[in-house]
Amino acid sequence: MSIDSSVGSAADTTAQTGALSADADWWRQAAVYQIYPRSFADADGNSIGDLRGITSRIPYLKDLGVDAVWLSPFYPSALADGGYDVDDYRDVDPKIGTLHDFEEMSAALTEAGIRLIVDIVPNHTSDQHAWFQEARRSPKGSPARDRYIFRDGLGPDGAQAPSDWESIFGGPAWTRITEPDGSPGQWYLHNFAQEQPDLNWKNPEVREDFKKTLRFWSDRGVDGFRIDVAHGLTKDLPENLPTQAEMDTMPQDGSHPIWDRDDVHEIYREWRQVFEEYSPPRIGVAEAWVSSERRPLYASAEGLGQAFNFDLLEADFDAAQFRDIVSFNLGLSEASGSSSTWVFSNHDVVRHATRYGLPTPAEDPQAPADEKAGTSWLLSRGSEPRLDAEGGLRRARAATLFELALPGSAYLYQGEELGLHEVAEIPDADRQDPTFFNSPGVSVGRDGCRVPLPWSRQGGSYGFGPGQAHLPQPEWFSRYSVEAQEQDPESTLNLYRSALRLRRELQSREALEWLSTHHDTVLAFRRPNGWICVTNFGEVPATLPSGELLLSSSPLTTDGELPGEATAWLQS
Ligand code: NOJ
Repeated sequence: MSIDSSVGSAADTTAQTGALSADADWWRQAAVYQIYPRSFADADGNSIGDLRGITSRIPYLKDLGVDAVWLSPFYPSALADGGYDVDDYRDVDPKIGTLHDFEEMSAALTEAGIRLIVDIVPNHTSDQHAWFQEARRSPKGSPARDRYIFRDGLGPDGAQAPSDWESIFGGPAWTRITEPDGSPGQWYLHNFAQEQPDLNWKNPEVREDFKKTLRFWSDRGVDGFRIDVAHGLTKDLPENLPTQAEMDTMPQDGSHPIWDRDDVHEIYREWRQVFEEYSPPRIGVAEAWVSSERRPLYASAEGLGQAFNFDLLEADFDAAQFRDIVSFNLGLSEASGSSSTWVFSNHDVVRHATRYGLPTPAEDPQAPADEKAGTSWLLSRGSEPRLDAEGGLRRARAATLFELALPGSAYLYQGEELGLHEVAEIPDADRQDPTFFNSPGVSVGRDGCRVPLPWSRQGGSYGFGPGQAHLPQPEWFSRYSVEAQEQDPESTLNLYRSALRLRRELQSREALEWLSTHHDTVLAFRRPNGWICVTNFGEVPATLPSGELLLSSSPLTTDGELPGEATAWLQS
């Protein structure tokens, strides 16, 4: 199979020269590094990472060789959901900096040749947002309430929620407010935490305000936006609401009352016009948990332009699954005119070094029936006796080299370049994630992948900052620290650096040709210019095709073969 879909080339990204090119297609094959700002680097010592901390680590990002960073929310927030509960979309959280710090960071990234993508959270505000505060103070039926989704309760005194809907984080999706006169009042919809009221996207003021936000950050040097819950914004709620069970069985074909509605794309067509006001145009990438067939709608050039594909993240380390996913998604991106995206880890899932070191869901008798557990059910609370840490990391390194050789954008999550494992041993009292509190006994939540990064072998917070880290770091972080890995040529950090440097040199057209390997457990493909990637998913060493060895995730055997669970790059 040969796929040849594109005209754009990311090979001319200019991080080496310290200037950003005017190439409007820079994003198509970018390596994008996700920073979860509160856990990256803390300059002021308040235990929460900050923008000045990021600025101080730009040399590290430049050495790593990424084309862009994506910042998870840094806006003022009470942190009910790690910053995805935004109080003010056009400011910086004083706990993590100022607008001036943002401008300095943005200028320094540009100077280093690194693009900047920020997170936009349009499905919900926080309950501390001025709009929600005003809605609480204002009477039923007021314009202030119309920015959100308020309903009267059921029953004679309205004491029953308008429906039995459940929030994604567990617990009810409706919360009742107290009216300004002290009486029990209306209910508002929150598909996530109760501190995250859903906005009403039928309201023109809501629509206009987000365009203002897009311009606000674009004017401050932001190159693009990651759109949170992009498939959730528009809703069409009938007078008599369906039950949760009824909703669960409704087709998600564009007509569902709350998810992946066709009319959400009207919003993104308007946003596209805003993106095109800038040169190069600003970009969007949708976080849309929709069926793969509907993903191209979000990735279209008239809409956001790109959409996350989480298929590899959800797959086992398995040759057949990887091959099907790659072929299918390259076909999809060809159809939409976008490029593919590839992700193994982010701030919402168990780190891939750990996922690949634990039994797969199918192998695990302890797997809960409740799919809300995500993958964090894999973790016990405390030490992790079932974890094959070494094997997990070996497979993760192989998977990452496979990913970085694919056409399209690779989204990397902070700490994966250190081969970090999920931190399972967080005491309950220190946990922060609402999914832990709202899903008792089902999910330990997402804190384990959000533990502040270890920069040095020693020190109170392993170099994260002068104070303590806001989530406890385990002792093994010392071994995984940047300092420990700098000098080791075989370290995961140095593997990522080499891979990202080579990727820049080798990458050209978005084309991929599968090569035959005669083994079900070995995948090989060729990119233009003779760049070959071979991944051995099995345990028996595999013969490599002829060519110069450029890089491998594990050393070759003494016979020059690719060992099990390893990837090699060759130049033919
Ligand atoms: C998706 C984000 O990635 C996640 O962290 C957040 O909790 C939800 N959206 C709600 O905003």
